[in-house]
Amino acid sequence: MAKRLGILTGGGDCPGLNAVIRAIVKKSIKECGLECVGILRGWLGLIDGLVTPLDLDAVSGILHRGGTILRTSRTNPYKHEGGIDKVRENIKKFELDSIIAVGGDDTLGVSVKLYEEHGINIVGIPKTIDNDVAATEYTFGFDTAVNIATEAIDRIRTTAESHDRVMVVEVMGRHSGWIALHSGIAGGADIILIPEKAINMDEICDLILKRHDRGKDFSIVVVAEGAKLREGDQEEFVLQAQERDEFGHVRLGGIGGVIGKIIEGRTGYETRVTVLGHIQRGGSPTAFDRVLATRFGVAAAQLVEKGDFGKMVALRANEIIAVPLSDGIKEVKTVDDEMYNMARTFFG
Ligand code: F6P
Repeated sequence: MAKRLGILTGGGDCPGLNAVIRAIVKKSIKECGLECVGILRGWLGLIDGLVTPLDLDAVSGILHRGGTILRTSRTNPYKHEGGIDKVRENIKKFELDSIIAVGGDDTLGVSVKLYEEHGINIVGIPKTIDNDVAATEYTFGFDTAVNIATEAIDRIRTTAESHDRVMVVEVMGRHSGWIALHSGIAGGADIILIPEKAINMDEICDLILKRHDRGKDFSIVVVAEGAKLREGDQEEFVLQAQERDEFGHVRLGGIGGVIGKIIEGRTGYETRVTVLGHIQRGGSPTAFDRVLATRFGVAAAQLVEKGDFGKMVALRANEIIAVPLSDGIKEVKTVDDEMYNMARTFFG
Protein backbone atom coordinates (compact mmCIF):
# COMPACT_ATOMS: atom_id res chain seq x y z
CA MET A 1 0.00 0.00 0.00
CA ALA A 2 1.26 3.49 -0.87
CA LYS A 3 2.59 5.51 2.04
CA ARG A 4 0.42 8.49 2.98
CA LEU A 5 1.86 11.99 3.10
CA GLY A 6 -0.05 14.79 4.87
CA ILE A 7 0.55 18.36 3.68
CA LEU A 8 -0.26 21.50 5.66
CA THR A 9 0.27 25.24 5.29
CA GLY A 10 0.55 27.30 8.51
CA GLY A 11 0.96 30.95 9.49
CA GLY A 12 0.26 33.93 7.23
CA ASP A 13 -0.64 33.06 3.65
CA CYS A 14 1.77 34.12 0.92
CA PRO A 15 2.03 33.89 -2.87
CA GLY A 16 3.51 30.55 -3.93
CA LEU A 17 1.71 28.28 -1.44
CA ASN A 18 -0.47 26.74 -4.13
CA ALA A 19 2.59 26.30 -6.35
CA VAL A 20 4.37 24.39 -3.57
CA ILE A 21 1.31 22.20 -2.84
CA ARG A 22 1.03 21.37 -6.55
CA ALA A 23 4.73 20.51 -6.77
CA ILE A 24 4.66 18.24 -3.71
CA VAL A 25 1.56 16.41 -4.90
CA LYS A 26 2.69 15.95 -8.51
CA LYS A 27 6.17 14.76 -7.57
CA SER A 28 4.87 12.50 -4.78
CA ILE A 29 2.16 10.81 -6.84
CA LYS A 30 3.90 10.62 -10.21
CA GLU A 31 7.43 9.73 -9.15
CA CYS A 32 7.61 8.78 -5.47
CA GLY A 33 4.70 6.35 -5.18
CA LEU A 34 3.11 8.33 -2.34
CA GLU A 35 -0.52 9.13 -1.65
CA CYS A 36 -1.27 12.72 -0.57
CA VAL A 37 -3.70 14.06 1.99
CA GLY A 38 -4.36 17.76 2.54
CA ILE A 39 -4.52 18.88 6.18
CA LEU A 40 -6.78 21.94 6.41
CA ARG A 41 -6.06 25.17 8.31
CA GLY A 42 -2.50 24.42 9.42
CA TRP A 43 -2.01 22.71 12.77
CA LEU A 44 -5.69 23.26 13.56
CA GLY A 45 -6.47 20.59 10.97
CA LEU A 46 -4.46 18.04 12.93
CA ILE A 47 -6.14 19.01 16.20
CA ASP A 48 -9.69 18.91 14.78
CA GLY A 49 -9.13 16.18 12.20
CA LEU A 50 -9.80 18.27 9.09
CA VAL A 51 -8.41 16.56 6.00
CA THR A 52 -9.13 16.39 2.29
CA PRO A 53 -7.86 14.05 -0.44
CA LEU A 54 -5.19 15.59 -2.66
CA ASP A 55 -4.98 13.92 -6.04
CA LEU A 56 -3.63 15.25 -9.34
CA ASP A 57 -6.99 16.81 -10.18
CA ALA A 58 -7.11 18.71 -6.89
CA VAL A 59 -3.88 20.54 -7.71
CA SER A 60 -4.62 21.21 -11.35
CA GLY A 61 -4.83 24.90 -12.34
CA ILE A 62 -3.57 26.31 -9.02
CA LEU A 63 0.07 27.18 -9.86
CA HIS A 64 -0.65 30.86 -10.49
CA ARG A 65 -3.20 31.36 -7.72
CA GLY A 66 -2.46 33.29 -4.52
CA GLY A 67 -3.46 32.05 -1.06
CA THR A 68 -3.59 28.37 -0.20
CA ILE A 69 -6.21 25.81 -1.22
CA LEU A 70 -5.50 24.09 2.13
CA ARG A 71 -6.33 27.27 4.09
CA THR A 72 -4.10 28.34 6.95
CA SER A 73 -4.22 29.48 10.57
CA ARG A 74 -1.92 30.73 13.29
CA THR A 75 -2.82 27.76 15.52
CA ASN A 76 -0.16 26.56 17.94
CA PRO A 77 -1.03 23.02 19.08
CA TYR A 78 1.19 23.50 22.13
CA LYS A 79 -1.21 26.22 23.33
CA HIS A 80 -4.32 24.02 23.10
CA GLU A 81 -5.40 21.79 25.98
CA GLY A 82 -4.52 18.25 24.85
CA GLY A 83 -3.47 19.69 21.46
CA ILE A 84 -0.45 17.46 20.95
CA ASP A 85 -2.34 14.31 21.92
CA LYS A 86 -5.00 15.19 19.37
CA VAL A 87 -2.36 15.82 16.71
CA ARG A 88 -0.87 12.38 17.39
CA GLU A 89 -4.28 10.70 17.41
CA ASN A 90 -5.26 12.25 14.10
CA ILE A 91 -1.94 11.33 12.49
CA LYS A 92 -2.78 7.72 13.47
CA LYS A 93 -6.45 7.99 12.52
CA PHE A 94 -5.70 9.28 9.01
CA GLU A 95 -2.77 6.85 8.65
CA LEU A 96 -0.27 9.58 7.84
CA ASP A 97 3.23 8.15 7.55
CA SER A 98 4.76 11.60 7.17
CA ILE A 99 3.96 15.30 7.03
CA ILE A 100 5.29 18.20 5.00
CA ALA A 101 4.72 21.44 6.92
CA VAL A 102 4.97 24.63 4.87
CA GLY A 103 5.41 27.71 7.02
CA GLY A 104 7.53 30.39 8.62
CA ASP A 105 9.40 30.24 11.92
CA ASP A 106 6.25 29.49 13.99
CA THR A 107 5.11 26.52 11.88
CA LEU A 108 8.67 25.25 11.57
CA GLY A 109 9.14 25.67 15.35
CA VAL A 110 6.19 23.36 16.01
CA SER A 111 7.58 20.92 13.41
CA VAL A 112 10.95 20.73 15.18
CA LYS A 113 9.26 19.92 18.50
CA LEU A 114 6.94 17.30 17.00
CA TYR A 115 9.92 15.67 15.31
CA GLU A 116 12.30 15.82 18.26
CA GLU A 117 9.86 15.17 21.11
CA HIS A 118 7.38 12.82 19.44
CA GLY A 119 9.29 11.23 16.57
CA ILE A 120 6.78 12.43 13.97
CA ASN A 121 8.14 12.14 10.43
CA ILE A 122 8.22 15.77 9.30
CA VAL A 123 9.86 17.71 6.50
CA GLY A 124 9.67 21.52 6.52
CA ILE A 125 9.41 24.03 3.69
CA PRO A 126 10.13 27.69 4.49
CA LYS A 127 7.71 30.34 3.23
CA THR A 128 7.02 33.93 4.26
CA ILE A 129 6.90 37.29 2.58
CA ASP A 130 9.21 38.56 5.37
CA ASN A 131 12.14 36.38 4.17
CA ASP A 132 13.28 36.07 7.78
CA VAL A 133 13.75 32.28 8.07
CA ALA A 134 17.35 31.34 8.87
CA ALA A 135 19.32 28.81 6.81
CA THR A 136 17.76 29.74 3.47
CA GLU A 137 18.73 32.69 1.31
CA TYR A 138 15.15 33.17 0.16
CA THR A 139 11.68 32.08 1.14
CA PHE A 140 8.99 32.11 -1.53
CA GLY A 141 6.43 34.89 -1.20
CA PHE A 142 9.14 37.47 -0.63
CA ASP A 143 9.84 38.26 -4.27
CA THR A 144 6.15 38.82 -4.98
CA ALA A 145 5.77 41.10 -1.94
CA VAL A 146 8.83 43.11 -3.00
CA ASN A 147 7.49 43.53 -6.52
CA ILE A 148 4.08 44.65 -5.25
CA ALA A 149 5.71 47.15 -2.86
CA THR A 150 8.06 48.42 -5.59
CA GLU A 151 5.17 49.03 -7.95
CA ALA A 152 3.32 50.84 -5.15
CA ILE A 153 6.35 53.09 -4.54
CA ASP A 154 6.56 53.88 -8.27
CA ARG A 155 2.90 54.89 -8.24
CA ILE A 156 3.21 56.90 -5.05
CA ARG A 157 6.16 58.80 -6.55
CA THR A 158 3.74 60.36 -9.05
CA THR A 159 1.83 62.09 -6.25
CA ALA A 160 5.01 62.93 -4.34
CA GLU A 161 6.45 64.74 -7.38
CA SER A 162 3.20 66.42 -8.44
CA HIS A 163 2.30 67.76 -4.98
CA ASP A 164 5.79 68.43 -3.56
CA ARG A 165 5.06 66.06 -0.72
CA VAL A 166 6.82 63.68 1.59
CA MET A 167 5.23 60.26 1.04
CA VAL A 168 5.70 57.61 3.70
CA VAL A 169 5.09 54.01 2.57
CA GLU A 170 4.66 51.42 5.33
CA VAL A 171 5.42 47.85 4.29
CA MET A 172 5.30 44.55 6.20
CA GLY A 173 8.23 43.02 8.03
CA ARG A 174 7.84 42.16 11.67
CA HIS A 175 11.41 41.48 12.77
CA SER A 176 13.31 41.93 9.52
CA GLY A 177 13.46 44.77 7.07
CA TRP A 178 13.97 42.71 3.90
CA ILE A 179 10.80 43.89 2.15
CA ALA A 180 11.49 47.53 3.06
CA LEU A 181 15.12 47.25 2.01
CA HIS A 182 14.56 45.55 -1.35
CA SER A 183 11.48 47.55 -2.36
CA GLY A 184 13.12 50.74 -1.10
CA ILE A 185 16.26 50.13 -3.16
CA ALA A 186 14.26 49.07 -6.22
CA GLY A 187 11.81 51.97 -5.87
CA GLY A 188 14.53 54.59 -5.30
CA ALA A 189 13.34 55.53 -1.80
CA ASP A 190 15.12 58.48 -0.17
CA ILE A 191 15.06 56.87 3.26
CA ILE A 192 14.52 53.22 4.28
CA LEU A 193 13.69 52.34 7.88
CA ILE A 194 13.92 48.76 9.15
CA PRO A 195 13.35 46.92 12.45
CA GLU A 196 17.07 46.19 12.77
CA LYS A 197 17.92 49.90 13.21
CA ALA A 198 16.04 52.10 15.69
CA ILE A 199 14.54 55.16 14.01
CA ASN A 200 16.33 58.43 14.68
CA MET A 201 13.86 61.22 13.80
CA ASP A 202 16.54 63.95 13.99
CA GLU A 203 18.56 62.19 11.31
CA ILE A 204 15.52 61.56 9.09
CA CYS A 205 14.22 65.14 9.24
CA ASP A 206 17.72 66.42 8.63
CA LEU A 207 18.07 64.24 5.52
CA ILE A 208 14.71 65.46 4.18
CA LEU A 209 15.48 69.14 4.88
CA LYS A 210 18.88 68.88 3.17
CA ARG A 211 17.33 67.10 0.19
CA HIS A 212 14.73 69.85 -0.23
CA ASP A 213 17.46 72.51 0.19
CA ARG A 214 19.21 70.87 -2.77
CA GLY A 215 16.15 71.60 -4.86
CA LYS A 216 14.32 68.29 -4.57
CA ASP A 217 10.74 69.14 -3.66
CA PHE A 218 9.56 65.69 -2.62
CA SER A 219 10.79 62.69 -0.63
CA ILE A 220 9.82 59.04 -0.34
CA VAL A 221 10.30 57.23 2.95
CA VAL A 222 9.82 53.45 3.14
CA VAL A 223 9.32 52.06 6.62
CA ALA A 224 8.87 48.47 7.80
CA GLU A 225 5.96 47.91 10.17
CA GLY A 226 8.38 46.50 12.77
CA ALA A 227 10.69 49.54 12.80
CA LYS A 228 10.94 51.01 16.29
CA LEU A 229 11.08 54.61 17.45
CA ARG A 230 13.85 55.45 19.89
CA GLU A 231 12.50 57.32 22.94
CA GLY A 232 15.47 57.97 25.24
CA ASP A 233 16.81 54.50 26.02
CA GLN A 234 13.60 52.77 24.95
CA GLU A 235 12.74 51.35 21.54
CA GLU A 236 9.03 50.80 20.99
CA PHE A 237 6.94 49.03 18.36
CA VAL A 238 3.82 50.78 17.08
CA LEU A 239 0.89 48.38 17.52
CA GLN A 240 -2.49 47.98 15.87
CA ALA A 241 -3.69 45.72 18.66
CA GLN A 242 -2.26 44.62 22.01
CA GLU A 243 -3.59 41.06 22.07
CA ARG A 244 -1.16 38.32 21.18
CA ASP A 245 -1.71 35.38 18.84
CA GLU A 246 -0.94 31.79 19.90
CA PHE A 247 2.73 32.31 19.07
CA GLY A 248 2.94 35.45 21.21
CA HIS A 249 2.93 37.99 18.37
CA VAL A 250 1.24 41.38 18.73
CA ARG A 251 -0.36 42.99 15.67
CA LEU A 252 1.99 45.61 14.25
CA GLY A 253 1.03 48.60 12.13
CA GLY A 254 0.92 52.36 12.30
CA ILE A 255 4.59 53.34 12.47
CA GLY A 256 4.16 55.13 9.11
CA GLY A 257 1.47 57.40 10.56
CA VAL A 258 3.57 58.17 13.62
CA ILE A 259 6.68 59.16 11.71
CA GLY A 260 4.63 60.97 9.03
CA LYS A 261 3.23 63.32 11.68
CA ILE A 262 6.68 63.99 13.15
CA ILE A 263 8.17 64.67 9.69
CA GLU A 264 5.38 67.11 8.78
CA GLY A 265 5.61 68.84 12.18
CA ARG A 266 9.37 69.25 12.12
CA THR A 267 10.03 69.99 8.44
CA GLY A 268 6.83 71.80 7.53
CA TYR A 269 6.52 69.71 4.34
CA GLU A 270 3.10 68.29 3.56
CA THR A 271 3.24 64.57 4.29
CA ARG A 272 1.00 61.61 3.42
CA VAL A 273 1.15 57.99 4.55
CA THR A 274 0.20 54.78 2.71
CA VAL A 275 0.06 51.46 4.52
CA LEU A 276 0.33 48.59 2.02
CA GLY A 277 -0.71 45.86 4.48
CA HIS A 278 -2.05 42.58 3.15
CA ILE A 279 -1.98 43.76 -0.47
CA GLN A 280 1.66 42.58 -0.27
CA ARG A 281 0.55 39.04 0.52
CA GLY A 282 -2.23 38.77 -2.03
CA GLY A 283 -2.60 37.70 -5.62
CA SER A 284 -0.54 35.84 -8.11
CA PRO A 285 3.08 34.85 -7.31
CA THR A 286 5.93 36.14 -9.48
CA ALA A 287 7.74 33.71 -11.77
CA PHE A 288 10.64 33.64 -9.28
CA ASP A 289 8.34 32.57 -6.44
CA ARG A 290 6.58 29.97 -8.60
CA VAL A 291 9.92 28.42 -9.55
CA LEU A 292 11.33 28.51 -6.00
CA ALA A 293 8.11 27.02 -4.56
CA THR A 294 8.18 24.30 -7.24
CA ARG A 295 11.83 23.45 -6.51
CA PHE A 296 11.16 23.38 -2.74
CA GLY A 297 8.10 21.16 -3.20
CA VAL A 298 9.90 18.64 -5.39
CA ALA A 299 12.91 18.50 -3.04
CA ALA A 300 10.68 18.03 0.02
CA ALA A 301 8.83 15.13 -1.65
CA GLN A 302 12.20 13.53 -2.41
CA LEU A 303 13.20 13.80 1.27
CA VAL A 304 9.96 12.06 2.24
CA GLU A 305 10.59 9.34 -0.34
CA LYS A 306 14.07 8.74 1.14
CA GLY A 307 12.72 8.82 4.71
CA ASP A 308 15.06 11.72 5.48
CA PHE A 309 12.94 13.43 8.14
CA GLY A 310 13.63 16.31 10.54
CA LYS A 311 14.93 18.33 7.58
CA MET A 312 13.96 21.59 5.93
CA VAL A 313 14.62 22.43 2.30
CA ALA A 314 16.61 25.62 1.74
CA LEU A 315 18.08 27.72 -1.07
CA ARG A 316 21.84 28.31 -0.99
CA ALA A 317 23.86 29.64 -3.93
CA ASN A 318 20.95 28.70 -6.18
CA GLU A 319 21.04 25.05 -5.06
CA ILE A 320 18.22 23.43 -3.13
CA ILE A 321 19.69 21.69 -0.11
CA ALA A 322 18.36 19.95 3.01
CA VAL A 323 19.29 21.30 6.44
CA PRO A 324 18.19 20.19 9.93
CA LEU A 325 14.76 21.65 10.68
CA SER A 326 16.19 23.22 13.83
CA ASP A 327 18.58 25.33 11.70
CA GLY A 328 15.59 27.15 10.24
CA ILE A 329 14.44 28.46 13.60
CA LYS A 330 17.70 29.01 15.44
CA GLU A 331 17.55 32.74 14.74
CA VAL A 332 15.62 35.35 12.80
CA LYS A 333 17.42 36.17 9.55
CA THR A 334 17.88 39.92 9.76
CA VAL A 335 19.27 42.52 7.36
CA ASP A 336 23.04 42.72 7.71
CA ASP A 337 24.91 45.99 8.18
CA GLU A 338 26.73 45.68 4.87
CA MET A 339 23.49 45.57 2.91
CA TYR A 340 21.89 48.40 4.89
CA ASN A 341 24.99 50.58 4.55
CA MET A 342 24.93 50.00 0.81
CA ALA A 343 21.32 51.22 0.75
CA ARG A 344 22.27 54.27 2.85
CA THR A 345 24.45 55.53 -0.03
CA PHE A 346 21.21 56.51 -1.75
CA PHE A 347 19.52 58.22 1.23
CA GLY A 348 18.65 61.89 1.05
O1 F6P B 1 4.32 36.69 8.63
C1 F6P B 1 4.15 37.56 7.59
C2 F6P B 1 3.34 38.77 8.01
O2 F6P B 1 2.76 39.29 6.83
C3 F6P B 1 4.13 39.84 8.74
O3 F6P B 1 4.87 40.66 7.88
C4 F6P B 1 3.03 40.58 9.45
O4 F6P B 1 3.50 41.20 10.63
C5 F6P B 1 2.06 39.50 9.80
O5 F6P B 1 2.30 38.44 8.90
C6 F6P B 1 0.63 39.92 9.73
O6 F6P B 1 -0.15 38.85 10.13
P1 F6P B 1 -1.73 38.78 10.07
O7 F6P B 1 -2.12 38.50 8.65
O8 F6P B 1 -2.07 37.66 10.98
O9 F6P B 1 -2.25 40.11 10.52
